[in-house]
Amino acid sequence: MPTIMKCCLVLSVSSLAVLLAAADHQLRVDYYSKKCPNVEVIVREEMEKIISAAPSLAGPLLRLHFHDCFVRGCDASVLLSSTGGNMAERDANPNKSLRGFGSVERVKAKLEAACPNTVSCADVLTLMARDAVVLAKGPFWPVTLGRRDGRVSSAAETYQLPPANGDIPVLAKIFASNGLDLKDLVVLSGAHTLGTAHCPSYADRLYNFTGKNSAADVDPSLDSEYADKLKNKCRSLTDMSMISEMDPGSYKTFDTSYYRHVVKRRGLFYSDASLLTDATTRDYVQRIATGKFDDEFFRDFSESMTKMGNVGVLTGDEGEIRKKCYVIN
Ligand code: HEM
Ligand SMILES: *[C@@H]1O[C@H](CO)[C@@H](O)[C@H](O)[C@H]1NC(C)=O
Ligand SMILES: *[C@@H]1O[C@H](CO)[C@@H](O)[C@H](O)[C@H]1NC(C)=O
Repeated sequence: MPTIMKCCLVLSVSSLAVLLAAADHQLRVDYYSKKCPNVEVIVREEMEKIISAAPSLAGPLLRLHFHDCFVRGCDASVLLSSTGGNMAERDANPNKSLRGFGSVERVKAKLEAACPNTVSCADVLTLMARDAVVLAKGPFWPVTLGRRDGRVSSAAETYQLPPANGDIPVLAKIFASNGLDLKDLVVLSGAHTLGTAHCPSYADRLYNFTGKNSAADVDPSLDSEYADKLKNKCRSLTDMSMISEMDPGSYKTFDTSYYRHVVKRRGLFYSDASLLTDATTRDYVQRIATGKFDDEFFRDFSESMTKMGNVGVLTGDEGEIRKKCYVIN
């Protein structure tokens, strides 16, 4: 055999081995096609029931997946309950507002009945987040599967979540540490088209922007008429009594009106407003806000969600397949 061919044969055998090894650690759309062929149908059927009974759960379920992926990767660590000696992620400060845990258990129970010990909670949550978007009239995208569940959840690690008062450098750094770029940041912020927020998440913009702690200490980047309106829903820095929609008027519909609010300086969080302070993110906000590029936003959102769903995943024989999502096996 001529040397050149020998070399290439060796090369192709070893690159095949690399490919196979990689495939083993890669998520795949058809991961459960033999082990649990109806997984997506089962999730969708339950999600239809959940969302038709409580349309406002679409936002919380999408947010749960995001909080899962940004702490320890998408390993369902956000779903674990605290135990005797350990305070879990869901009981940390940003916890007060996480919802939808019961719905995840409900879907997981259906899957355990159909295919015991097979489908991870991390995959269940990823599929539920996608279906939440679809059922809110947003885009569909194929979800790659094969995530495994982690065995650790620590409240102390939730500092890795982006803070509501973060500016672009702070947010970009947190996104970058998850392999997500500025485009992902501005696209995924579009998730704020769904759902609601509690006053402490934005009250500093109304009452204590520069630390003066007075009703006149308002964030100048917030439309002043809108600030006055918000003060009716958020009466003090600690008021927890009422919730506000981030995309008022269509908070149960996945659409591009969030960007029109941001452009009008009516983004609810400082993080939303910050998107106007950087050329890349501002251009995107302005473009999508025209309402002429809804398809583009839907495609971008699908792409960025797929990227986010890949963050730090456990695969192969890492982690475990939890039987119940709130407790390790
Ligand atoms: C860019 C950084 C982000 C920041 C600073 C941020 C911050 C927040 C805050 C403070 C709330 C309100 C919590 C409350 O007061 O109840 C919230 C809600 C929400 N966030 Fe984000 N978020 C970010 C990115 C994301 C991403 C990437 C997603 C999903 C892809 C997302 C989805 C949601 C949803 C759906 C809600 C509404 C939840 C509900 O209705 O209960 N957010 N976010
Ligand atoms: C988390 O929320 C629970 C109520 O659901 C509360 O009792 C607990 O103190 C909260 N933990 C933190 C650290 O805020
Ligand atoms: C107001 O803001 C200052 C500076 O950010 C902070 O130190 C202080 O705790 C805030 N006051 C309240 C009541 O939250």
